[in-house]
Amino acid sequence: MNITFNKENNTFKIDTENTSYIIGIVDEEAFIGHIYYGPKLDEVPLHLLRIDENPFVPSKNNRDRGSFMDTFPCEFPGNGLGDYREGAVEVIDCEGHSAVNFTYDDYKIIDGKTVINGLPQTFENEKSLDGKMGAKAKSLEIYASDKSLSLKAVLRYTVFEDSDALIRSVKIINDSQSSIYLTKVLSASFDMDSENYELLTLHGSWARERQIDVRPIGYGKTSVGSVKGESSHQEHPFMALLEKGATQEKGKVYGFNFIYSGNFLAQVEKSQFDSVRAVMGINPGGFKWELKKGESFEAPEVALVYSNEGLGKMSRTYHDLYRNHLIRSPYKDKERPILINNWEATYFDFNTEKLLDIAREAKKSGIEMLVMDDGWFGKRNDDNSSLGDWNVNEDKLKGGLKYLVDEVNKIGLKFGIWMEPEMISPDSDLYRAHPDWAIAIPGRVPTRSRNQYVLDLTRPEVLEHTWNSIKTVLESANIEYLKWDMNRQITDIGSAYLGKDNQGELCHRFALAVYELQERLVKTFPNLLLENCSGGGARFDPGMLYYGPQIWCSDDTDAIERLGIQEGTALIYPLSSIGAHVSDCPNHTVGRVTPFETRGHVALAGTFGYELDITKIPESDRQQIPEQTAMYHKYHSLVRSGDYYRIASYRENRFYDCYGVVSKDKSEALFTFVQVVGRPNYHSRLIRFAGLDPDAKYLIEGENEVLSGRTIMEAGIFVQNPWGDYKSKLIHFVRQQ
Ligand code: DGJ
Repeated sequence: MNITFNKENNTFKIDTENTSYIIGIVDEEAFIGHIYYGPKLDEVPLHLLRIDENPFVPSKNNRDRGSFMDTFPCEFPGNGLGDYREGAVEVIDCEGHSAVNFTYDDYKIIDGKTVINGLPQTFENEKSLDGKMGAKAKSLEIYASDKSLSLKAVLRYTVFEDSDALIRSVKIINDSQSSIYLTKVLSASFDMDSENYELLTLHGSWARERQIDVRPIGYGKTSVGSVKGESSHQEHPFMALLEKGATQEKGKVYGFNFIYSGNFLAQVEKSQFDSVRAVMGINPGGFKWELKKGESFEAPEVALVYSNEGLGKMSRTYHDLYRNHLIRSPYKDKERPILINNWEATYFDFNTEKLLDIAREAKKSGIEMLVMDDGWFGKRNDDNSSLGDWNVNEDKLKGGLKYLVDEVNKIGLKFGIWMEPEMISPDSDLYRAHPDWAIAIPGRVPTRSRNQYVLDLTRPEVLEHTWNSIKTVLESANIEYLKWDMNRQITDIGSAYLGKDNQGELCHRFALAVYELQERLVKTFPNLLLENCSGGGARFDPGMLYYGPQIWCSDDTDAIERLGIQEGTALIYPLSSIGAHVSDCPNHTVGRVTPFETRGHVALAGTFGYELDITKIPESDRQQIPEQTAMYHKYHSLVRSGDYYRIASYRENRFYDCYGVVSKDKSEALFTFVQVVGRPNYHSRLIRFAGLDPDAKYLIEGENEVLSGRTIMEAGIFVQNPWGDYKSKLIHFVRQQ
C-alpha cells in the first residue's frame, strides 16, 4: 500500500498490493484526469491522457476545448461545459445556472483515514466497537474548485494495507456568499477504454432478491438505480465491469459497491469514441440539496475492487474488506446464537404460551435464542394497524414483555424482538395524535403500502420520539437481539418540516436519520445483536452492515430459490452477514418440498437459524435438528471467517450448485453440493474444487481418502449424485500433518 505524488509529471499513484490507480493533472487549467486503474504498474502511462484522435487536440488550445472536454478521461466530471457524458456533479447557482467544473488546487496524503460524519464508512482500526485493531490505511485528498462558483470539492481515496480495494468519496463545500443547490453529487466516476466489457448487475423483486444479470455494454447509457428511499429489492447498489469471458477464476473485473442504503444510481455509458464511463452515487432523481454559505455536503463512499483473477477474487476482496473494515459489531468475529423466529411459525397468531411452547421444544434441540417477530404491540393482529404504538399487547402477551423474556431465559434461551421503527400505521394512536409525522404531500391522499406510511424522520421531534420508543422497548427486558424491519418504500415525497425549497433533501435526510438512530442503538446497546431487514432483503447493502453484522437476506426461505439469492448476495457480502433460516415445507413462498437436510445445508451458508413451528413439524424433521445445530457449531467459525469459492452455479447449468469456504490457513475446507434436479444415468459428477494448498494432503472426511490439494483442484474428485431432486451433501477436506 502506498500513495505518491510525482512532481515531475503531476501524477498521483495509489497502489495496493496488486493494483495501481493513477490520476494526472493536465494543462494550465489543471484538469484532473483519470490515467489508469488495473494491475500494479511500476511507471505512469502518461500517454493515456492524450487521446490522439480527431477532433481531440491534446493541448491548451482553447478553440478545441469542446472536443477536449468530451473525450478527456475526467476524474470528477462536471456539467454543462462540453463534456456531454454523464457528469458527477450538477448545481443550480444563485443565478439559476447549472454549469460546474472542478479543477485541481492542491492535495494531501494522509496516514489513516478521515472520518465522515453521519455516514456508514470503512475504517482503519479505531472504529471497531469491540476495540479490535484493523490494518493501517493511507488516504489521498485532492482539493479542487470551481472558481466561478466559489465551490470546492475534496476527492477522497483510501487504501488499506491488507486489501486490494480502493475507497472513494467526495465532499463539496460552498465557499460563496449565497446558497447553491446541488442537484447531483455522485461519489465516483471512472473512465476507461471499453475493451469489450460486459456489465454485471443484481436485479430482483420481493422474495427474488439479487439475481445475477450480465449484459453487453452498448452505446449510450445503461443504468440501475433506486428512487424508493432504500437500496431496494429490485436493483442493487452494485455493478461490475467484466472482461468478456471472465469466469470465477479468470479475467479482469472491476467491482463498484455503494456504501449507502438510500436512493442510488449505478451507470455505465459507452461514448462515441468507445470509452466507458462508470458512475455511482446518490440518485439525482428528485435530489436537490441546499448548500448554504459555508456548508459542506458529504457523499457516501464507493468501494472499488479490481480483480484480474475473475469474479471469485473480487468476491473474496469484498468479503475481507467488509469483515475487516466495515462491520463493527462485536458479533462479527463471534459465534452467533442459533435462533428460532416465530414469523413463518405463527405469523400474527401467537401468545405467551405459544411462544414458550416453541422455546421449550427449541431448547431440547440445541437452539439458543427465541425471536418474537411482528404482532406483539398495539392491537396488531394483521398488518393493518399499530405501527408506531410500541407498547405490548397484553391480550396476547399476558404478564407483559418482561414476564415472557424472563420465562424464555429460564428455559435457557436468549430473547430477541422485531420492530419496524421507521413506520406509522394510519390506524395507530401515534398517527391519530400526529398525522403530520407521516411523509406526505399536502392536498394529496398519501399512497399506502402494506397499509402503512413512513415516518418523517427528518423532523427532529419524530427522530427523538422514535429513538425513545426503541430504547424503552429494549430497556424493558433482557433483549439480546433486534430485528429492525422496513416493510415499505417511500412515496409521496413531502415533509411538513422541510421548506418548499428543501423537499428534494428528504430521501437523503431520511437515510441519514436511519443511520443516526442505528448509531445511537449500537452505541447505547453495544452487545445487542442487530439484524437489519426490509421486507426480506430490500436493504441488504454495505451501509447497513456498518451498524449490524447480519441482514435478513430474503423472505424466500425455500432452499432451492435461496441458492440463486445467496449466490448473488455472496458475490459481494460475506456469508456471516447473510440471514438464512431453515423453514417448514411446503415452502410458504413457492410451495416446494425439499429435504430438511438440504434446508440445513443451504442455511449453513449464512447465519443459520430456524423459522418454523418446532412443535408442529414432522417428527423426522425435528429429530434432525440436534444434528444440524451440532453441524453449525462444527463449521461456524470456518464459514464466518473463511475464503468463499464458487465452483458451479445452478443458475447457469440448471442441474446442480456447488460452493464452499476454505479457512485462511488452508487447513480445512467445507464445500456444499446440491443436486437440484436428478438426472437419469448420471451417477456422479467430477468436481474440481478450489482454494486448497496444492502441496498439502487433505483427508476427505467420511471417505477415508487422502489426496493432495493439487489433485483435488486439478484432477478433481467424483461426487456421487444423491438420489432424487433437491438433495445435498457437504464435503469436508481436512489437511493432514
Ligand atoms: C418482513 C420480514 O422480512 C419478515 O421476516 C417478517 O419480519 C415480516 N416483515 C413481519 O411483518
